Amino acid sequence: MTYQVACLESDLEPADVMQVTLNGVDLAIARDSDGSWHAIDDLCTHGNVSLSDGDVEDGGIECWKHGSVFDLKTGRPRQLPAIHPVAVYPTKLESGSVWVDVDSPIH
Ligand code: FES
Repeated sequence: MTYQVACLESDLEPADVMQVTLNGVDLAIARDSDGSWHAIDDLCTHGNVSLSDGDVEDGGIECWKHGSVFDLKTGRPRQLPAIHPVAVYPTKLESGSVWVDVDSPIH
């Protein structure tokens, strides 16, 4: 387990997302509408587009291109056209920062 700082807690309001690269892994760092933090692979599994350009709401992030919503906890798409999940990484909050372990994907 190697946690690294991905961003500051103050960087995102609830229901927002940003792109961060850690150890060469492009991540979508999402703060859900309930305030919880999540880190998933930024690349949509259906096409070559960034999920961090999509919308975050109610535990999911919607790909802006074709509308698949990926669950922020499991990485699984909730509906077509995407059928493959994105990787989900552990996060923790410490000292005002959001930490992510890209070496140990949860899913
Ligand atoms: S590119 Fe993301 S759903 Fe098609």
